[in-house]
Amino acid sequence: MSSLAGAGFIETKQHRRFREFCDACRRYQYIGLCYGPPGVGKTLSARHYANWDKVERYRPDSPGGTVALEQIKGSTVVFYTPPVVVTSPGRLPNDIERLRDKLRGFCLEEIRREEQPRLESANREVDVLYEYHRRTGLNGFDVPPEEVARRQDEWRRIFERVSGRERAQPDPTALILIDEADRLKMTGLEQMRAIFDQGGIGMVLIGMPGLEKQLARYPQLYSRIGFVHEFKPLSREEVRQLLQERWWPALAPMPEGGIADEESVAAIIRITGGNFRLLHRLLTQIGRVLEINTLEKVTVPVVEAARESLVIGTA
Ligand SMILES: Nc1ncnc2c1ncn2[C@@H]1O[C@H](COP(=O)(O)OP(=O)(O)OP(=O)(O)O)[C@@H](O)[C@H]1O
Ligand SMILES: [Mg+2]
Repeated sequence: MSSLAGAGFIETKQHRRFREFCDACRRYQYIGLCYGPPGVGKTLSARHYANWDKVERYRPDSPGGTVALEQIKGSTVVFYTPPVVVTSPGRLPNDIERLRDKLRGFCLEEIRREEQPRLESANREVDVLYEYHRRTGLNGFDVPPEEVARRQDEWRRIFERVSGRERAQPDPTALILIDEADRLKMTGLEQMRAIFDQGGIGMVLIGMPGLEKQLARYPQLYSRIGFVHEFKPLSREEVRQLLQERWWPALAPMPEGGIADEESVAAIIRITGGNFRLLHRLLTQIGRVLEINTLEKVTVPVVEAARESLVIGTA
């Protein structure tokens, strides 16, 4: 059986549903509303959809960095978390503008990489023209004037083509995901609406249950909401399957044989209610309990002991 020990992101059924929802908001250029209780995986899903871990880590000025242009080029989704306190009125639009610029930057980088060999070779051709002057200190060239003009024209032609392509590169943003949308106050919501109204993009507001009621107070924004999506906890079968496939928190000690005991599996399903964050914490604690007591097998008393060290209900 394959093992998911230390695996990163899991493509759960809820994630697939979220992805379809985002695809629809992007395609029909709607504002979508996604709500779900804390800890079910909204943020992780959204970041995964936007490939945001890679986008954030990419550094154009260090080609030897951990993320290559190939891994992020073609990105069209922005992921944004508004700050808890917005101190300056321009903060949100500026932040989002900056992130959209970043995506456009990837396209520019691609153009530059494509054109660089041609530009460099034209550069070299022009540069050698001045070799004569450098060597002799005399003005003039050691090739006929037509050749000087040809090379200079060629350089200018290529340079102008590159600049032209750069200028013509549109903002590739097709969808903006706003996490923690509950934080947005009236001004923030109004600013999001203004960004959406510029056209050409979809937007997804992500938050806790109740977000839809909160937004209903702002009819202008509310009337633009095309889709609503509820992000649900994992199903019992999914938790069972994750445990069978030995999904385990990356940093926690994992029992040798996974969790074989049916009753323990049932207890874990009951305690976590399919909440991913709670599952993560409970398994971490189970690992600790086993380690501290030098036990090997997960049993119901182990699960119970692990549960006691959790603050259930504040997932
Ligand atoms: N698809 C997944 N694959 C692996 N782990 C996940 C996944 N989804 C969630 N998790 C785990 O659950 C934790 C909580 O997920 P996340 O922060 O995305 O929840 P949330 O719904 O955004 O919660 P909140 O409403 O509190 O912001 C993550 O830190 C991670 O450990
Ligand atoms: Mg979140």
